[in-house]
Amino acid sequence: MAVKKQNILLLGAGGRECAIAWKLSKSPLCGNLFIAPGNAGTRFYGTGLDISVSDFQGIKQACLEHQIDILFPGPEDPLVAGIYDFIKNDPELQHIIVVGPSKAGAQMEGSKAFSKKFMQRHNIPTAQYREFTAENFEEGKTYINTLTPPVVLKADGLAAGKGVIIAQSTEEAQAAFSSMIQDHQFGNAGDRVVIEEFLDGVELSVFALTDGEHYILLPEAKDYKRVGEGDKGLNTGGMGAISPVPFADATFMEKVVSRIVAPTVAGLKAEGIVYHGFIFFGLIKVNNEPYVIEYNCRMGDPETEVVIPRLNNDLVELILKMGEGCLNEVKAEHSTDAAATVVLVSGGYPGSYVKGKVLTGQTDVSGSILFHAGTAVKDGMVVTSGGRVMAVTSLAPTLKDALATSYANAARIGFEGRYFRKDIGWEF
Ligand code: AMP
Ligand code: GLY
Repeated sequence: MAVKKQNILLLGAGGRECAIAWKLSKSPLCGNLFIAPGNAGTRFYGTGLDISVSDFQGIKQACLEHQIDILFPGPEDPLVAGIYDFIKNDPELQHIIVVGPSKAGAQMEGSKAFSKKFMQRHNIPTAQYREFTAENFEEGKTYINTLTPPVVLKADGLAAGKGVIIAQSTEEAQAAFSSMIQDHQFGNAGDRVVIEEFLDGVELSVFALTDGEHYILLPEAKDYKRVGEGDKGLNTGGMGAISPVPFADATFMEKVVSRIVAPTVAGLKAEGIVYHGFIFFGLIKVNNEPYVIEYNCRMGDPETEVVIPRLNNDLVELILKMGEGCLNEVKAEHSTDAAATVVLVSGGYPGSYVKGKVLTGQTDVSGSILFHAGTAVKDGMVVTSGGRVMAVTSLAPTLKDALATSYANAARIGFEGRYFRKDIGWEF
């Protein structure tokens, strides 16, 4: 029997959502695609809706009006806020497939303390840690004194990617601990603090799509988080990414699967935590052994901009299989090509920056895909509307060639204050 075309509502407005929209729109199973709110790039693949990702009532109205079959939240906020449960508890909406975990499952990202305890329960390798609140603040101070710096402090809750502090000295760690607990530096997110040992290694991101029992692995990726070349300067959302990751060889990936991915999926199931969607494993390789730095309950950005172009499967078909609990019936097909993405950002990012700058040169680009992030249409022109403006992705048989194409095209896109790192993939 022919499968009905699916009407899809994708939530988000970043480069990740642009890449997902690009991929969904290629599927013969994709019916009407809507992106809320979307950006100047997503309009090439679907219809933008002026609804915030946190406006659950607005999302409900859109689902009813457009007869949505699949709801795909791109970012973590709606998932951590419980969009899955909202949909599943509503008789008018509960038939919709949600690509993402329940509120309980989203705690894997929403609470560092929750995810650390989960890993302990399931013997999943991660840094040694303890957690503290105002109640055992003095104990925390004593604990910090026992650790050899660097010391890692993590606000428990969501802190827009800023809640992790790597203190280089005991004094710095004590000061950071006090500002989190006593001065509420991260608001409620830092009322509980995870303090953990520093792991020295190389990081990578691994992604699985699970139906709660089975899973498929997507291509792995490495992102470049620091704003400056040579991995210097402030942390950003991500300045570029590559896939595959040369140091993630088959032996290492087998360890990742047997010690981390499989026990995570089995652990969620055993604990009755409803999880249908992507699991993002933020990993670090230390002496050839993988450890979990963090879990996220969604895809990464800018990792998606290299992972999704390397996924040869039909993404709508994968989502339907996930919805049926039949992901064991499909095999992930990864392209043998390498992918690289270079992120163009507004001058000043991740600090303050000016919006509304006109973008030029998009029609001069050839051989790359432009995944828009912080862009908008104003008076018929594409203008900047965020810190990360656009991800320039290329595929080629070698990483070197993919990078060369992305760099050639990155230079063709102009806007006042444009900045990008020149050393993405430099170490390989
Ligand atoms: P997270 O938000 O947990 O991903 O942490 C942000 C970044 O802090 C990570 O990408 C790592 O670079 C770093 N980090 C977090 N935890 C550790 C750790 N235990 N050891 C070393 N680096 C860490
Ligand atoms: N690029 C890291 C993240 O999406 O969290």
